[in-house]
Amino acid sequence: MNEQIIILDFGSQYTQVIARRIRECNVYSTILRYDTPARAIAALAPAAKGLILSGGPSSVYDAAAPLPDKNIFKLGLPILGICYGVQLFGQFLGGKVEKGLKREYGKGTLTVNDPQCALFRHLPRQLQVWNSHGDKLTRLPRDFVVVATSENSDYAAIEHPKKKFFGLQFHPEVAHTPRGKEVLSNFVHDICGCGKNWTMRRYIDQAVEQIRAQVGNEHVILGLSGGVDSSVAAALLHKAIGSHLTCIFVNNGLLRAREAEMVQEVFGRHFKIKLQYEDVANLFLKRLKGVTEPERKRKIIGKTFIEVFQAATQRAGRAKFLAQGTLYPDVIESVPIAGNPAALIKSHHNVGGLPKKMKFRLVEPLRCLFKDEVRLLGLELGLPKEIVYRQPFPGPGLAVRCLGEVTPEKLQVLRRADAIVVEEMKASGLYYKTWQTFAVLLPVRSVGVQGDERTYDWTLAIRAVESQDGMTADWVKLPYDLLEKVSLRITNEVRGLNRVVLDLTSKPPGTIEWE
Ligand code: XMP
Repeated sequence: MNEQIIILDFGSQYTQVIARRIRECNVYSTILRYDTPARAIAALAPAAKGLILSGGPSSVYDAAAPLPDKNIFKLGLPILGICYGVQLFGQFLGGKVEKGLKREYGKGTLTVNDPQCALFRHLPRQLQVWNSHGDKLTRLPRDFVVVATSENSDYAAIEHPKKKFFGLQFHPEVAHTPRGKEVLSNFVHDICGCGKNWTMRRYIDQAVEQIRAQVGNEHVILGLSGGVDSSVAAALLHKAIGSHLTCIFVNNGLLRAREAEMVQEVFGRHFKIKLQYEDVANLFLKRLKGVTEPERKRKIIGKTFIEVFQAATQRAGRAKFLAQGTLYPDVIESVPIAGNPAALIKSHHNVGGLPKKMKFRLVEPLRCLFKDEVRLLGLELGLPKEIVYRQPFPGPGLAVRCLGEVTPEKLQVLRRADAIVVEEMKASGLYYKTWQTFAVLLPVRSVGVQGDERTYDWTLAIRAVESQDGMTADWVKLPYDLLEKVSLRITNEVRGLNRVVLDLTSKPPGTIEWE
């Protein structure tokens, strides 16, 4: 088992950020529910090297406050309490917690009084930190000493030197605490004694072994969309089981320019993966004919996909396993605590998945990885940057960007215009810096003049958004000269379009896709 840091989740919106920061220090981390029994943690010895108690929206003195098993303090493991985690030290180990006079929220300055404290080794005496808490410790827990103070707190960082318990009132995991990662690195390396063993290069060997052990001599099927997760899963599985992997790629006719060719080029010709190419564009377009209502379009596409995929798996033959690109955030048991937005941030798309009657066993080789790790893994496996840093693309494809009825002619226009948007975004260096940038074909015709002719043609919208997770998004202020070039090229090069507009809507109130 990997050496690891266990993070007990008390419902903080930053719990996953803590886990990611620890992994960036090349130490594996696992998130467990706040009430995980101490003996379950003890059972992870000797791999478990330390505990982190996350922040959380509750007050420790609330009747419904999430509290840990009190025996976690007797495991002999170093513990780092962050924010609410500090208050738990107060509550369980003889200190006192009270409501602060005012909420401390935002930037602060930390003054380290004890430069010997291992947590602040190699760091300056003053640090910019980020706070977000209402309650505070007003009496130190037994045998703790103060190691740092801040404007608002006499107990901004505390330590129980003998037990190696540390408490931080601020959040070291967020980007607004610029040197917070070094604090976490000191905890996991110097205090918990973890090595730097967690790298994607090593993960490949480990995953290959696990996949082989699970699959044995059987065959695996993977639905390859060309997106990051399924692509990385394909490359990893291929490394593990070679020709025992069959990837099914469905061309639903709603893909962007050159997408189907790229997938065939990379996976079929370059990686030499067994690729079953299902060209069912006509079926999808036939079923979408005359349909204008967005939800109906989505339903038809979803249902048709399942039908096609099921039939394809039967043709693929004897596979017992179905591979899925499930990631760690999908499997963490989120803590249902009121006020914890992380509990709500779950993908609202693709819920349901494939029907239960498809009797496959699952292989999920990315199950313990975060998205940024999946990208690194993809690069290690030799996937091209276009795939590894590909922007999200919705399952229903261009159908949700071709408003109203989807026809082959409209798709053709949209594809050409979208390719220009992407090409110019890439040339400007902005493509990989935005969450999504794409074209939307509006069901609006207007009068124009092109050459000496009067035209009556369609309108194209450009949508560029910045986002962390797709749940909220800000529209991107693209440079005018770039917009000018894109607009000029589109109206010159794409027949059927005579007007280009820019979408200035954030999410909320808009959604990222138009349908
Ligand atoms: P919305 O449009 O809801 O999109 O703001 C949020 C994010 O989800 C993507 N999206 C989808 N992804 N299947 C997917 O796999 C879908 O049906 C789907 N619809 C939207 C969208 O591109 C954005 O990144």
